[in-house]
Amino acid sequence: MASESFPARGRPTIPARNLKLEPPVTPKPQFHPLRVREIRRETPDAVSLLFDVPAALRPDFSFQAGQYLTLKADINGEDIRRNYSICSAPLDDELRVAVKTLQGGRFSTYANQVLRAGDTLEVLPAAGRFTAAFAPHRAAAYAAFAAGSGITPILSIIKTALATEPQSRFTLFYGNRHSGQILFLETLAALKNRYMERFEVYHFLSAEEDDIELFNGRLDAPKCRDVLAHLVDAAAISQFFICGPEAMMAAAEAALLDSGVPPGAILLERFSATPIDPAYAARALASARAAAGRRIGVVLDGRKSTIIFDAALGNILDSARAAGMAAPFACKGGVCATCRAKIISGAVDMNVNYGLTPDEVQAGYILTCQASPRGDDVVISYDV
Ligand code: FES
Repeated sequence: MASESFPARGRPTIPARNLKLEPPVTPKPQFHPLRVREIRRETPDAVSLLFDVPAALRPDFSFQAGQYLTLKADINGEDIRRNYSICSAPLDDELRVAVKTLQGGRFSTYANQVLRAGDTLEVLPAAGRFTAAFAPHRAAAYAAFAAGSGITPILSIIKTALATEPQSRFTLFYGNRHSGQILFLETLAALKNRYMERFEVYHFLSAEEDDIELFNGRLDAPKCRDVLAHLVDAAAISQFFICGPEAMMAAAEAALLDSGVPPGAILLERFSATPIDPAYAARALASARAAAGRRIGVVLDGRKSTIIFDAALGNILDSARAAGMAAPFACKGGVCATCRAKIISGAVDMNVNYGLTPDEVQAGYILTCQASPRGDDVVISYDV
């Protein structure tokens, strides 16, 4: 996932630009080999991975609460990359991510069943904007809606908020199917004990019965509205955090907006872009077909190459990689922005964008895993 704070939904058409070719200004983040020091089973279907970070790489792997790492592994001869949220907090002085098994998920299955302590993974430095600037003088009220492994970045945020801001409070609404699947149940209980007056956690289970009806069922739209009606004063919360399956996030966001919470007080974190718009696939296919065979100038690591857009691959990123260019990527779902590039000339269509801010889009940045060229004059640069 990146993460995005305020998704720019829909399908922006990036206007034609005629920008001066700029030299690289910021070094691109590089993968580093990190040894997995410990694999801890958190639930029957999830593990956490603790990495050894050599002293020389510590500055590269500093992070903010709520950020994620991109992990890369060669799995059966294929270069597989996935983003996983960091569950530790910066003050924990450890770098740990959680990986929950997804049905058919190649990386998550590999991490849960094959990977061993002592193995090495390629890791990109932390990234993501699902975070907040916590400061000791602040006295704020925070709240989060999480479901399943969506707790991972939120756990880091909760730990950081409560430890950094002694006058702040945090309320968590956390949905799961069964109690046995609750990730970080003991850690949350320990936080509750430690910050009894400042931390509240409410569990919602969809496949187990609680005596109190409010806590039965999913965090869907009616449940989120009930939560806001009975458990928290939304107007008193300065920042809401939401992470989990797309349907839960949409329900929580809509309930918050309906209850008058300003969009700027809601942060969402996505790791896969499940398009809400049912016309997405048809649009993406139409764009790719229309762009078949178009020439694209691609600048990477100071060199410019001309590639041909391959409609079967469907996007500029995969066309560039098929041409032998080491264009960066992680999620390929329009979320993480690892594949970000800037338009130097020409115009492209983007299918979805969950990873770029409106300002970045305005400045000419695109997600190449979602982009197809609108003409033969497109030049993009991964270096700016
Ligand atoms: S947005 Fe993640 S690879 Fe393109």
